[in-house]
Amino acid sequence: MPASKGARRPFFCGNWKLQGTVNESVALATEVRNGVATLRDVDVVVAPSFTAIHAVARRLEGGPVSVAGQDCFWEDKGAFTGEVSAPQLSDAGCKFVILGHSERRQLMGELDAAVNLKAKAALRAGLAPIICVGETLAERDAGETLGRVGAQVDAALTDLTAADLARSIVAYEPVWAIGTGRNATAAQAQEVHRFIRTRLAAKFADLAPTVRILYGGSVKPDNIKALMAEEDVDGGLVGGASLIADSFIRIVKEGSV
Ligand code: PGA
Repeated sequence: MPASKGARRPFFCGNWKLQGTVNESVALATEVRNGVATLRDVDVVVAPSFTAIHAVARRLEGGPVSVAGQDCFWEDKGAFTGEVSAPQLSDAGCKFVILGHSERRQLMGELDAAVNLKAKAALRAGLAPIICVGETLAERDAGETLGRVGAQVDAALTDLTAADLARSIVAYEPVWAIGTGRNATAAQAQEVHRFIRTRLAAKFADLAPTVRILYGGSVKPDNIKALMAEEDVDGGLVGGASLIADSFIRIVKEGSV
């Protein structure tokens, strides 16, 4: 790992998406916890479905693995049927929340402005947002990758303070690489990660070198090392490969040595 990453502890989050009963989720979380128990200098997080968050958080309490929500609403409470708020996630045991995942943007019509409101709600509630950005295949093919990612970063961070950014994590997830088995090459990831860091530096010069930028999209035990060797790749947001404890543990180990 390049020496300049010193201040940025590797960070790995398993995004379980819409998968798992309460019992299955607690069992998977327990295996992950046991598998990473001896590791130091790495942050490990799992993001179960809402229904399993509380039970998973209780099981992981006091250990090295933290819990994230996969989304939250931007209001703290009220007449918003079906939504879950950031204070509720915190109450259930979350320390993090994934926001603006491409599945939410593409399938649920989530807009940049909503991601910004949700980030503010998360920060208000004491949660650290993991803000996802990334281009579609059509945008990449049209040469619009950096334009799209830059716009998403700017929108998500609108009106955030330096203290807010210091608690936030960014995840670059090219949409064409999610769940497709086709990961970005290390060089493709690095290009966008560097671009994101430069974008952050335009507003927060001192802070930008300390913000962790994760890569997501078909991360596997056999490709994480090459990705982590890049200067601006600080960890992974892992979907499919995080559903098997052994493969997620291997990713954490390979990516944090
Ligand atoms: P994947 O998903 O690892 O299955 O590609 C990544 C994500 O959606 O966060």
